[in-house]
Amino acid sequence: MKILAIETSCDETAAAVIKEEKGRPLLLSSVVASQINIHKIYGGVVPEVAARAHIENIIPVISSTLKKAKVKLTDIDYFAVTYGPGLVGSLVVGVETAKALALSMDKPLIPLNHLEGHIYANFLTEKGKVFEEPKFPLVCLLVSGGHSLLIYMKDHLGYKVIGETRDDAAGEAFDKGAKALGLGYPGGPIISKLAEKGDRYAFSFPTIDLTPEPKKDKDGFLVHPEPSLDFSFSGLKTALISEIKKVKKGKLTPATKRNLAAGYESAITRHLVQNSLRAVKKYHPKSFILSGGVAANRYLRRTLNDEIVKYDPDVRFLVPDFSYCTDNAAMIGAAAFYHVKKKRSSKNSFSAEPNLKLK
Ligand code: KG4
Ligand code: ZN
Repeated sequence: MKILAIETSCDETAAAVIKEEKGRPLLLSSVVASQINIHKIYGGVVPEVAARAHIENIIPVISSTLKKAKVKLTDIDYFAVTYGPGLVGSLVVGVETAKALALSMDKPLIPLNHLEGHIYANFLTEKGKVFEEPKFPLVCLLVSGGHSLLIYMKDHLGYKVIGETRDDAAGEAFDKGAKALGLGYPGGPIISKLAEKGDRYAFSFPTIDLTPEPKKDKDGFLVHPEPSLDFSFSGLKTALISEIKKVKKGKLTPATKRNLAAGYESAITRHLVQNSLRAVKKYHPKSFILSGGVAANRYLRRTLNDEIVKYDPDVRFLVPDFSYCTDNAAMIGAAAFYHVKKKRSSKNSFSAEPNLKLK
């Protein structure tokens, strides 16, 4: 079984070929044409510019991934494409291309949720490498530019959102923080690099916890509500801006920037780790998987792994290779693989859904 997957939900034009090996999705090739260099001059993704770049890139990216996988279009058994959430103009390019290919080849087409793809990046395998298979039940922390979610899964393709952000996403917090510090786009990798050489304790950032205050019951006893699994990052961004204002302009030296980046990255990580551990304590998963663009953050990977192992060494902590954390089509192919296995129906009558939810 061979799947050609297409992903164009934001600013990466991507295609990948997956085949089945030993009951798992094996990656044959993955090509990503990044638009970062185009968008960084604007300090963020410009939707119209992204859509136009996808149109230019989509066919060369598909041709190149087929070539790398050494397969022909006629060898493909299933086509798969991200149809949401994302930027509508970007999604449409992938969706219409995939529909045209599936129709002309007379093969099934599987519409995929981008978030499902991020989760399934953890199920990908590659030749010559060992990939531990996540076990159910599992908890996933999905942190990207648009989402911060804790998800519980009892089995394949069933998602229960157990925690979500009430304002910005974790990746957005990195991007906005980098902007406030006068750094480039996307902010995550830049802050992360600076933070490595900074002092994490030079500035103090709050620890965010959305658990409501304890309340007295009718007998006057304090009742503690269940610890919250939800996220909020806008307060940390405000704290960063206020620290920047306190530092007199001339003193925002490279060393101060490094320390601010380190303190800010640590505070974001503390919040993510705190809620992840709460989810582990409540749901007792066999595996804890990290995914999404922010999963490329080395400090988060390390801290989360250490804390989970410390709490319960039997919970397996897994995270994709760096290249499959940020947007790519290999993860879409992996998710499509399980749709095929579970005989989820393919369809041709769907459209791009920019606000698609994880169901
Ligand atoms: O998953 P992704 O590629 O796109 C979305 O689906 O949003 O995630 C992009 C986000 C950006 O906000 C970017 O700043 C963040 O992932 N990111 C990182 C790192 N690499 C990418 N954040 C923190 N540390 C990183 N190393
Ligand atoms: Zn993404």
